[in-house]
Amino acid sequence: MKFYIGTDHAGFAIKEDVKALLKARNCEVIDLGPDSDARVDYPDFARKVAKAVVQDSGSFGIVICGTGIGISVSANKITGVRAALCHDVYTAQMSRAHNDANILAFGQRVVGIGVIESMIDAFINTPFEGGRHATRVAKIEG
Ligand code: RB5
Repeated sequence: MKFYIGTDHAGFAIKEDVKALLKARNCEVIDLGPDSDARVDYPDFARKVAKAVVQDSGSFGIVICGTGIGISVSANKITGVRAALCHDVYTAQMSRAHNDANILAFGQRVVGIGVIESMIDAFINTPFEGGRHATRVAKIEG
């Protein structure tokens, strides 16, 4: 799997650890920034990841801010993105199974690295169930 990753300053500190978790699972990782913990605006990095995921068919994204809220709301403004703000294994698993999420979002100030690792495993290993869920997902785009 290929993952694009982006954060704001409030998600920056955990970014290298998340990249290492993905690489340990044989995922390709493309870091779209930022390059330091200097204050930035989360919509800018949400948009970079969202556009990359939409343009690169079959790829996925991870976006991180303080809460995960601003960066997931922003990513979802790009057509074709289904960014899921997750807090635990269950939400990460269901985001793939029922919502065909293509971006996993979480808050660095909300979840620790243990939860993040288990969410990444759930996200990577859970296929979209399709069927009635595909009908619903299709309606998201109108
Ligand atoms: C930055 O302080 C914080 O507002 C941002 O990371 C995020 O939590 C917004 O939703």
